[in-house]
Amino acid sequence: MENKDITVLAIESSCDETAAAVVVNGRRVLSNIISSQIDIHKLYGGVVPEIASRKHIERINQVIQEALSEADRTLDDMDAVCVTYGPGLVGALLVGVGAAKALSYASGKPLVGVHHIEGHISANYIANPELEPPFLCLVASGGHSHLVIVRDYGEYEILGRTRDDAAGEAFDKVARAIGLGYPGGPKIDKLSREGNPGAIDFPRAAIDGAPYDFSFSGVKSAVLNYINGCRMKGEAYSEADIAASFQEAVVEVLVDHTMLAAKDHGITRVAIAGGVACNGALRAGMESACRENNYSFYMPTPVLCTDNAAMIGAAGYYEFKKGVRHGLDLNAVPNLKLEPVS
Ligand code: KG4
Ligand code: ZN
Repeated sequence: MENKDITVLAIESSCDETAAAVVVNGRRVLSNIISSQIDIHKLYGGVVPEIASRKHIERINQVIQEALSEADRTLDDMDAVCVTYGPGLVGALLVGVGAAKALSYASGKPLVGVHHIEGHISANYIANPELEPPFLCLVASGGHSHLVIVRDYGEYEILGRTRDDAAGEAFDKVARAIGLGYPGGPKIDKLSREGNPGAIDFPRAAIDGAPYDFSFSGVKSAVLNYINGCRMKGEAYSEADIAASFQEAVVEVLVDHTMLAAKDHGITRVAIAGGVACNGALRAGMESACRENNYSFYMPTPVLCTDNAAMIGAAGYYEFKKGVRHGLDLNAVPNLKLEPVS
């Protein structure tokens, strides 16, 4: 009994990806289906919540079917149904939560609600089968920027967070300002390769008394001011230099704060997670800082950094093992907090 594999169906619909996956023992991904809505939302320059909900409801059943059939499993083979119930867009979350409840009710399989950020962090377990807590994780996504010590599975000590914009949000806003469109992160990443990261000295924000907190609204405003200044003076500017210099400013802060937190807390294992963890400069910068400091470095593959359901299956497995079960009264919680260690 003890050695029996635990297989879960995981569902994610917190923002603009409708996703389902089948994951064994929190680490082995049998399927990971992601139906992205980016092509629709980019017409509007960002995610339109009501459109996101409508697209989720159209696609969710098909995505779940595909996840099961690609894994060559049926609902009967599952030990639990895991679903993101927050944080995220309420209407979007409700679609996944509703689908998971229906499947749990119909099959009699336990329902496990999962925290979206816990999912992002747990993507590292899939990419690195040997990784176990404790470790330090930088979570940088479109809605969140956190520095977290993962004390144990599902136990988090939050060291720092953003005071204003999330890192990904800053990427998206700067991309819009230089006319790159949505989502901005990957476009800035690409354009930066043609620019000089030292061309413009954008600010690196530090917060008095909170060395692990972040603030990205200052660098975003500095970019907007720089562009406006050039336009008013009739001077030409290089979008590639702006992108590269902005990216350098953000990455430097993310890496420096993470290294400081690791040093102060005597942690030698460092991981990154969330959509911004796809960023080439962040991946390279964090890897070389970890090498210099003799820390082990972990990062998910890019497809596991942005929103997906495999990461929810990884986090859900550890919740399931701890005995977490949700009732059919589970609701979406748009501002769900990552519970600190008690
Ligand atoms: O984790 P995620 O898929 O969704 C949230 O939970 O928010 O993160 C999406 C964010 C977007 O802001 C996107 O621009 C950013 O991650 N992102 C990137 C890159 N790829 C995605 N930011 C910088 N460089 C990238 N390559
Ligand atoms: Zn996310």
